[in-house]
Amino acid sequence: MNRREFLKRVGVLSAAVSLVLSNSPSQAADPQPVTVLVTYHSATGNTEKMAQGVAEGAKAVSGTLVVLKRVGDVTENDLVSADAVIVGSPVYFGNMSGEVKTFFDNWSKFGLFRDRKMRNKVGGAFATGASVSSGKEVTMLTIFAAMFINQMIVVSGGGGFGASASTGTDSPGIDEKELAEARDLGKRVAEVAGLVKRGSGK
Ligand SMILES: Cc1cc2nc3c(=O)[nH]c(=O)nc-3n(C[C@H](O)[C@H](O)[C@H](O)COP(=O)(O)O)c2cc1C
Repeated sequence: MNRREFLKRVGVLSAAVSLVLSNSPSQAADPQPVTVLVTYHSATGNTEKMAQGVAEGAKAVSGTLVVLKRVGDVTENDLVSADAVIVGSPVYFGNMSGEVKTFFDNWSKFGLFRDRKMRNKVGGAFATGASVSSGKEVTMLTIFAAMFINQMIVVSGGGGFGASASTGTDSPGIDEKELAEARDLGKRVAEVAGLVKRGSGK
């Protein structure tokens, strides 16, 4: 091998070594946490209890950071920095409550809709209502509608639509089964948000 060939081979080798070295720190680094915002309106505590269950379920997924807040306390930064948003509402006359609607309407005030800042974030919903069948699924669907229009990726979990609980005289408060559904929703949304953020690895 002449000198020129030798230098050429050494050059290729050192380029390969530096490529491996420059790749290794990012492979070894911890992945960024997935942030899940769980937000709700609750006047008498039922939806709040479901929100705590949803938050517990999301926290159980490793690498997840959970922010739990009432809708009125959520800032623009909470929304922009979240990878997933799970919204809970009591059923008010067959629909989400005015507080939850105002929360979504503020997305326009914050410029989130105009600038598509919620695009590809993962969304989920939960609801509580006094009656077994007087609007919980409609409430979750209207929450989904706001998320769809903001180009979020909407997923179910817990029940077929999300998590829900009946709180009227036949079944007052939140029972263990309903809480388990809430945890399932939080877990699924956190898992899907992780897949979207980090890729499936397949
Ligand atoms: C103004 C108002 C309207 C309501 N409308 C409905 C309804 O249409 N369907 C239903 O199942 N429950 C309805 N409820 C009952 C609440 O949805 C239910 O008590 C819920 O669990 C309250 O949640 P919170 O304890 O988190 O405030 C209504 C309650 C209020 C105050």
